[in-house]
Amino acid sequence: MRPLIFAANWKMHIPPAEARAFAKHFLGSVPLAQGRTLWFFPPAVSIEATAEAFRERPDIHVGAQDVHWEPKGAFTGAISVPLAQGAGAVGALVGHSERRHVFGETDEETGRKVRALLASGASAMLCVGEKLAEREAGETEAVCLRQLRAGLAGVAADLWSRVLIAYEPVWAIGTGRNATPADAAVVHRAIRAELGRLGGPPGIPILYGGSVNKGNAQALLAERQIEGVLVGGASLDPAGWAEIVTTY
Ligand code: 13P
Repeated sequence: MRPLIFAANWKMHIPPAEARAFAKHFLGSVPLAQGRTLWFFPPAVSIEATAEAFRERPDIHVGAQDVHWEPKGAFTGAISVPLAQGAGAVGALVGHSERRHVFGETDEETGRKVRALLASGASAMLCVGEKLAEREAGETEAVCLRQLRAGLAGVAADLWSRVLIAYEPVWAIGTGRNATPADAAVVHRAIRAELGRLGGPPGIPILYGGSVNKGNAQALLAERQIEGVLVGGASLDPAGWAEIVTTY
C-alpha cells in the first residue's frame, strides 16, 4: 500500500474530556498499520489531552490548528510554537481557509508561521485553496501557487522534510460538495511542480480536504496525486473516522 496520511481537523469542537473518550474508542478500532500516518488537530485546549491519550502510538501525531510566529509575548489569545509543543503538539496547520477568510490571515503571515514551526523542529501543514469566485474566474492555480510561494518563502533546504501541503478548495469546505478526484489531481500536479521550482525535494505529501466523508474518501484516495485527506466534519465521530481511516 502506498503511504497515506489521514488528518482530522476538529476545528472548534471536542473539549479535553471528549478528546480522551474519542481516543479510547478510536484506539480500540484502529491498530497501527504500515504506511499509514494519522494527524489530529484538536482545539488548543485539547492538545495536551489528545497528545497524552495517543502517546503510545508512533503513527499518530497531534498538532495545533494555528500558531503565532513569535515564541512568546503579549499576544492575547494566541499560542506560540513552544507553547503548543509544551502541550504535546509536533506540528500545526497553517493558513487554513477559516484562518485566512474568517480571521483575515495574510499570505505573508502564513510564511512567518511556517518558518517559526520549522525552526522549532515542528511540522507545518500549509493549507491552500481557492474561493468559488476564483475558481469560476479560472484563477484556481494562480491563487494556490501564490499561497504556496508565500507560505514557503525562505524555507531552508534541510527543513523541507517537515513540510506537508493540504489543498482545500474553499467552496468544498463544510458544503458537502467535494472536488472530483480528477479536479483535485490537476491542482495537486500544479502544486507539485511549484514545490519543485521552490527547491522542495520530491515526496512532500499533498493532501486533499473539503467535504471528505465515508462515501467519497475511497474514490479520492484512489487518485494517486492525493496522498492523504484533511477532514473536518467527518472526523468528529470516532467510529466514523475509524471507518474512513481503516478502509485502506
Ligand atoms: P469539512 O471536511 O468539514 O468539509 O472540512 C474540511 C476542512 O476544512 C479540514 O481542514
